[in-house]
Amino acid sequence: MGKIFVTGAAGFIGSHTTDRLLAEGHEVSGVDNLRSGHRHNLTEALKSPSFRLAEADVAEAGVLDCLVAEFQPEAIIHLAALVSVQESIQDPALNRRLNVTATELVAAAARAHGVRRIVFASSAAIYGDTTDLPISEEAPKRPISPYGEAKLASEGILLAAAAAGGLTVRCHRYFNVFGPRQDPASQYSGVISIFDRRYRDGKPVTIFGDGQQTRDFISVHDVARANVIAATSGGLVSGVANICTGRATSLLDVVAVFASHYPAVPPPTLAPARSGDIVHSLGRPERARAELGFAAEVPVAEALGELIRAG
Ligand SMILES: NC(=O)c1ccc[n+]([C@@H]2O[C@H](COP(=O)([O-])OP(=O)(O)OC[C@H]3O[C@@H](n4cnc5c(N)ncnc54)[C@H](O)[C@@H]3O)[C@@H](O)[C@H]2O)c1
Repeated sequence: MGKIFVTGAAGFIGSHTTDRLLAEGHEVSGVDNLRSGHRHNLTEALKSPSFRLAEADVAEAGVLDCLVAEFQPEAIIHLAALVSVQESIQDPALNRRLNVTATELVAAAARAHGVRRIVFASSAAIYGDTTDLPISEEAPKRPISPYGEAKLASEGILLAAAAAGGLTVRCHRYFNVFGPRQDPASQYSGVISIFDRRYRDGKPVTIFGDGQQTRDFISVHDVARANVIAATSGGLVSGVANICTGRATSLLDVVAVFASHYPAVPPPTLAPARSGDIVHSLGRPERARAELGFAAEVPVAEALGELIRAG
């Protein structure tokens, strides 16, 4: 069993990744400044003697170096980030600090303290609004926000560090992740967590466009599993891979599941499509299967049911 360091551990994906690492018997040290994460996401993890949490800013010089030197992990899973595309447009300097400088500090701490593996939370945002679907890892990288640009730059920083030797880097380009603990109050929050909140409140959701738009929605449990595989499996080489299902789910499909659980909630309100909204997004999942042995397993309807029951 290994020692794994998780940045952004109190976040949506970070807390599920931490839970999974602990369930598999690993020792976990997490860091989070609670900027968009919540301590209550780690309620179960904090009961474990194999888990500790530091409340600190990973973009501050010396923080990561100190924590990594003390814990001596085999792997770092780097999830901490400014996660709002909108905020990255409004404050590009903050985006750079939290999404690029922090990555440089992760790479430096790994090199300084002999960490052998980094798993990085990249994003389908690096592809921009390509219409050539399904999107393979070879697709042109044309990010359309400072957030996407920073994710692409971070991949480059980490892969260059790996090329220098002694370090394996896996960059995970997540598609639309959803599940319990996703914060519906966040600006960046996925459409599913916003729908979940509306249905819970007994209010109709608004669909922009005809509802036929599709996304590659993936359960956070699958994403956490991909993170753990990449951090703990032997024999991996550095590289990038989409973390997606390869299946398109329309908003109408999503609404149908919610409607079946909340028959008293009025049907959705349709509003004109918003300019700039991507109509379809779909990833090609084959590389993650070939390089990590990972394939998404949780059907969207089942994961939606879990979210709805989670309360
Ligand atoms: N949720 C998605 O659909 C999705 C898609 C693509 C990529 N990602 C990436 O996955 C990662 C996790 O995202 P999430 O959805 O769990 O969001 P989240 O906001 O729940 O998690 C991010 C966590 O990082 C913490 N954090 C931010 N800046 C920090 C700093 N400087 N120091 C310490 N902690 C800091 C936050 O408090 C939060 O707990 C992010 O890197 C995000 O860009 C998410």
